Amino acid sequence: MPAEAARDPAVIVILGAGGDLTWRKLVPALHSLGAEQRLPSRFAVLGVDRRELGESAFRSRLREGVARFSRIGDPGDESWARFESALHYELGEFADPALYERISSRIDALEKSWGSPATRLFYLAIPPQLIEPIVLGLRRTDLPRDRARTRIVVEKPFGHDLASARALDALLTSTFEESQIYRIDHYLGKETVQNILAFRFANAVFEPIWNRRYVDHVQISVPETLGVEHRGAYYEHAGALRDMIQNHLVQLLCFVAMEPPVSFDAQEIRNKKVDVLHAMRKVPASEVQGFAARGQYDAGWIRGVRVPGYRGEAGVAKTSVTETFAAVKLFIDNWRWQGVPFYLRTGKRLPITASEISIVFRPVPHQAFPASAITDLRSNRLLLRIQPREGISLQCQAKRPGLPVRLGAVDMAFRYREAFGADPPDAYETLLLDVVLGDATLFMRADQVEAAWDLMMPILERWESTPPSDFPNYRAGTWGPDGAQSLIAQDGRSWFVPNLPDEEEERDTTP
Ligand code: BG6
Repeated sequence: MPAEAARDPAVIVILGAGGDLTWRKLVPALHSLGAEQRLPSRFAVLGVDRRELGESAFRSRLREGVARFSRIGDPGDESWARFESALHYELGEFADPALYERISSRIDALEKSWGSPATRLFYLAIPPQLIEPIVLGLRRTDLPRDRARTRIVVEKPFGHDLASARALDALLTSTFEESQIYRIDHYLGKETVQNILAFRFANAVFEPIWNRRYVDHVQISVPETLGVEHRGAYYEHAGALRDMIQNHLVQLLCFVAMEPPVSFDAQEIRNKKVDVLHAMRKVPASEVQGFAARGQYDAGWIRGVRVPGYRGEAGVAKTSVTETFAAVKLFIDNWRWQGVPFYLRTGKRLPITASEISIVFRPVPHQAFPASAITDLRSNRLLLRIQPREGISLQCQAKRPGLPVRLGAVDMAFRYREAFGADPPDAYETLLLDVVLGDATLFMRADQVEAAWDLMMPILERWESTPPSDFPNYRAGTWGPDGAQSLIAQDGRSWFVPNLPDEEEERDTTP
């Protein structure tokens, strides 16, 4: 995970450069990296798309995106002028072999002008059905054969299920070596996610209690207030389990549950994470109901604004049975975690947007305080907040001031902004710089992706073979379907609700 700057010349070819990802994420991230002198001085972006944009329209659209979405904000004329001279545009159809010849010649010309060969990144910012023609197009050129300098970056969704993920891997590895393939899960680029490793493995005090002896259970919650917006057509074929749990939430789980690595070498970290996936218990198809809950939002209110139900969104079928909420209970069959449930949940149109992990510890073995002292006894909870208000807090018991003796819950807290005086970089900044530098630690290896699909398959298959009869089953602006509450309540536990700035206390959502 380097924080250094890249020095060797580099060309980033963005295939699908007219789309949202380039506008909102990729170019704003590249601009911030450039502004902080982390990109090589000999650097270019070649945007490729089938839209008739033209170089100057392409550049002005990107400037607007940088102003709106980058961490740094409006670039200012001078800084933009420096950056935009590195932005180029190539019009073309992805299925047309001639396009790849043109791309190849443009790279040659850049290298010639720099007097040096460059690192070439092909970033696939396109829908999954275009991956094949692009890989086949690139295969016809010499570019993929330069194993050391040519890399391909693949966005999620990485397949639709285990079989399609394997087929996609076969396609990619027919042209590129695994070491050239960078599968992005943008959650891994979040500073707070990487901080889980620092927190666990750079401190001596947590590891001894990071196991089944002390941990009662773990919760990973990623609620979102947004609906599916303009992504209805994609989301109809995905659903919450595929869109969020199979990748982002399962990756968070791996960071929490992995064994200490011997080093921070990319293969070592990825081996330790895949070990977790291999140890995860697959839910038997006949028991899916006891381990997973799904929901779909109906019309409702989010922060005082009336919003439509999922079935009323653009691109969504009126009788859709796609889940917009999913919760699962998972177990890891190894010495460290045997018997400790990991509860994961995510959903669209929930009351709050946040991502957090709660490690909930077992109660003390013997309670010596009188009952009158402990009216509000809570187990210790370590809260890793991925976003917003990035930070970590440990909830403990303390004596309230005065007599008689009474205990109260308090937080020992660390917040990024207060501790380090700066907001963390955007996940795409970290990940793009890593690809330029050739560091794959934060990217998914084929075996990780496949193991994560394998884990989800019984739930996906069960849900597909038994369509829900109660959709929509939660109102927008509420905490999801009743089934999600029962999933955890049947074990005598309840979901924690993110404690956001204007809220003092966590609210318990058990009905
Ligand atoms: C994407 C999902 O991968 O992650 C979206 O496709 C989701 O549905 C998004 O909204 C959440 O990312 P973040 O970084 O905003 O938490």
